[in-house]
Amino acid sequence: VSSMAPALLILLGATVILQTDSLPNKNAVLLPPVSFTIKVIDLAQVLLHWEPNPDQEQRNVQLGYHVKINAPEEKDYETRNTESRRVTILHKGFSASVRTILWNNHSFPASSWVSAELKVPPGSPGTSIVNLTCTTNTEAYNYTHERPYQVSLHCTWLVGKDAPEDTQYFLYYRYGSVTEECREYSKDTQQRNIACRFPRTVINSKGRDWLAVYVNGSSKEEAIKPFDQLFALHAIDRVNSPVNVTAEIEGTCLSIQWEKPVSAFPIHCFDYEVKICNTRKGYFQTEKMKTNTFISIIDDISKYSVQVRAAVSSVCRPVGLWSEWSQPIYVGNDKQKPWMEWLLIVLTAAACFILLIVSLICRICHLWTKLFPPVPAPKTNIKDFFVSINHEKTGSSETEVEVISYVEEAGLETLEDSVF
Ligand SMILES: *[C@@H]1O[C@H](CO)[C@@H](O)[C@H](O)[C@H]1NC(C)=O
Ligand SMILES: *[C@@H]1O[C@H](CO)[C@@H](O)[C@H](O)[C@H]1NC(C)=O
Ligand SMILES: *[C@@H]1O[C@H](CO)[C@@H](O)[C@H](O)[C@H]1NC(C)=O
Ligand SMILES: *[C@@H]1O[C@H](CO)[C@@H](O)[C@H](O)[C@H]1NC(C)=O
Ligand SMILES: *[C@@H]1O[C@H](CO)[C@@H](O)[C@H](O)[C@H]1NC(C)=O
Repeated sequence: VSSMAPALLILLGATVILQTDSLPNKNAVLLPPVSFTIKVIDLAQVLLHWEPNPDQEQRNVQLGYHVKINAPEEKDYETRNTESRRVTILHKGFSASVRTILWNNHSFPASSWVSAELKVPPGSPGTSIVNLTCTTNTEAYNYTHERPYQVSLHCTWLVGKDAPEDTQYFLYYRYGSVTEECREYSKDTQQRNIACRFPRTVINSKGRDWLAVYVNGSSKEEAIKPFDQLFALHAIDRVNSPVNVTAEIEGTCLSIQWEKPVSAFPIHCFDYEVKICNTRKGYFQTEKMKTNTFISIIDDISKYSVQVRAAVSSVCRPVGLWSEWSQPIYVGNDKQKPWMEWLLIVLTAAACFILLIVSLICRICHLWTKLFPPVPAPKTNIKDFFVSINHEKTGSSETEVEVISYVEEAGLETLEDSVF
């Protein structure tokens, strides 16, 4: 084995030297490829195909091709194949060029370019849909099926501003090699389709393929311009919220647990955010987590609301969106405060009640003295009282009472006068 490595090196060296030697002579030029075609092979997918120039000297040279996409977006790359598959939007047309290069010597002059294009699809301006948005969602599958999860797709759009009233739109999606037409449309008031739902699709939520969505239309009045768009799954996936969130308090320790959302991604693929809200102080804290448990030290007796949300972490796919927060669950109690409050309320109520009773009693006494003027006979306490107040005045106790009330009213009046 040890003797083979140097031999291989020598062999490699020999081929390199051989190739350098066998380069086209100094006057030789590379000739452009022929029969360059662009063919739509699927929704938002084209195949570029060309042939090497039949007059090109191919012995002992490694030909390659430099492909340049000019529209809808510029991009260029090199290949040794004579065909190339591209996933691209097509409603703006598509054009590309290709030229022959020497694969192992980039300073050797390339051939001239050959170009081809796909025209912008026909249709009146302003008739195609606008503002297409799509989202996917993973649901647990019925266990009678082999796949444990299914991915639904929901798309909405707006009718083109110049689309005739009788326009009808049709939506198709492609994922991988499967294309499906929408069967569940939502309509606007003029019965035009403006949203579509696929309860289940062939989309693999862990896949990295583009999702292609195509919407064409028909009208008796005008040709409706089609529209297509590519979506990256991670950017449109509505991740489910974590499930079975539980929380409990032991002493000053608040421990929260949850389970990963319904998702085809395994447990290690999730980032979480926990939101703990102290409902008494209206204060909340959020924590980023990678595990399914969170323990926090809480300072005082209070009620807490706990919510958790999830996102697929960058470990498993490009960063996407956070899920919705889970439904809040409540732990702990702030009974102490209500208890104090109740006590206060009860005490206040009792005080008011007592005051009321006292004032009632007073009024009754008042009335009593009016109805049954005390007999001049002494020794009743009430009489003593009145007498003690107005002892210098003589006459019946009835006049005494009136005098007192008059004095009170006068006092009130003077008080009011001095205030205003
Ligand atoms: C590559 O091509 C250039 C231009 O013909 C030539 O000058 C150069 O020697 C070639 N390089 C190699 C490594 O063959
Ligand atoms: C539609 O999209 C355009 C541009 O992308 C934006 O300005 C407009 O507000 C959107 N309309 C609605 C109703 O979302
Ligand atoms: C599972 O699917 C079968 C047939 O598709 C259906 O009859 C059944 O009700 C489903 N079960 C649940 C739990 O959804
Ligand atoms: C829309 O596109 C689909 C798929 O390419 C095609 O089968 C259908 O005929 C088109 N409908 C109209 C109205 O152009
Ligand atoms: C959530 O809890 C329920 C009952 O405790 C259990 O049946 C279910 O499987 C749990 N969900 C998950 C995703 O583990």
